[in-house]
Amino acid sequence: MKILAIETSCDETAVAVVEGVDGELEILSDVVVSQVDIFAEYGGVIPEVAARSHLEAMMPVLDRAMEGISWKEIDAIAVTHTPGLLGSLLIGTLTARQLAILHNKPLYAVHHLKSHIYANWVGVGVKENKHNVPFGHVPGHSGQVFTSRRAHSVYSPSPTFSLLALVISGGHTQILYMREHNQFEIVGTTRDDAVGECFDKVAKILGLPYPGGPSIAKVAENGDAFKYKLPHPQVEGLDFSFSGLKTAVLRVVQKELGLPISHPSHDLKNHLNEQQVADFAASFQRTAVDILAEKMEMALKKFPEVKSIVVSGGVSANEELRKVFREKFGDMVYFPEPKFAGDNAVMVGVAAYYEILSGVKPVNPYHLDIMPRSEIK
Ligand code: KG4
Ligand code: ZN
Repeated sequence: MKILAIETSCDETAVAVVEGVDGELEILSDVVVSQVDIFAEYGGVIPEVAARSHLEAMMPVLDRAMEGISWKEIDAIAVTHTPGLLGSLLIGTLTARQLAILHNKPLYAVHHLKSHIYANWVGVGVKENKHNVPFGHVPGHSGQVFTSRRAHSVYSPSPTFSLLALVISGGHTQILYMREHNQFEIVGTTRDDAVGECFDKVAKILGLPYPGGPSIAKVAENGDAFKYKLPHPQVEGLDFSFSGLKTAVLRVVQKELGLPISHPSHDLKNHLNEQQVADFAASFQRTAVDILAEKMEMALKKFPEVKSIVVSGGVSANEELRKVFREKFGDMVYFPEPKFAGDNAVMVGVAAYYEILSGVKPVNPYHLDIMPRSEIK
């Protein structure tokens, strides 16, 4: 079964074709145009600009992903329709609806968090593929482009159920219990900011470029992770809170510089030297990773029967987090390949494939709506 998948929930325009045969998956194409270059200049995503960029990139990205594949071969279309930025979701969803109607294909509407979780099944059962032909640039687009074709060559073992899924992205921080494929129970969630958002905000305080996660990880390599003590929020059960951590960084920076708490946060970066930035980045990263690891330890105590932990979302690319989780949880912890940790369309196709195997029915392409906010079901 060949699935054409589309992802435009935030600032990546992505289209992929995946093929599933008897539970094994192969990536036939994987095209991503990222707008990070554009938003690095603004220090964050501007929704109107993101929607416009999706519109410009969509057709070239789609053409590239479909190169060498005929519409006759496509068995289904999958698209992210929730949650995300309204204008961004609209571009992908309307494109998918039109394609489904035009080519008479069943349409599957996929929840973005489900896709992130299923990034952990991307390599499952894939056999070595030696045809590794990278694509060129998507014409007429200034964003950063990552494209590949039949580039997947890693075989990875499959996570086993029941499992705990930790989704850590720019918009979400959740722990989900999965008894089986496509069954989700939210057992912990953030009460305020997502952890990725916290990386982005702390990066801004330290004067590091957007997106904050990779910038913090990079400078943290030269920093002392134990230099500054930051508090762990006291949140009951498996819930999280990250807005206090961001404020704690702000206060410790102000204190370190001998400035009052009324000193504007946007000016602090002008007073910090390179080593202080590295030490703050490392101390913050360590604290954020420790908070996530502690909650997962608590979750394991609550659900001792689970056999795997799958981590996903943009923050799951973080090397320090991977190291700490591997130390604490050993072989039971799974991560997506780093290039599938952030937003991409391959994970949407894989999630749709497992939805189809689980008996989920297609949606009406004339009626599919977007939802900027919604919980996974
Ligand atoms: O999953 P994602 O690409 O988009 C959302 O669905 O939100 O996640 C983006 C988030 C951003 O906050 C970014 O700073 C963070 O993931 N991120 C990282 C790393 N790479 C991306 N955070 C920590 N370490 C990284 N290496
Ligand atoms: Zn995402």
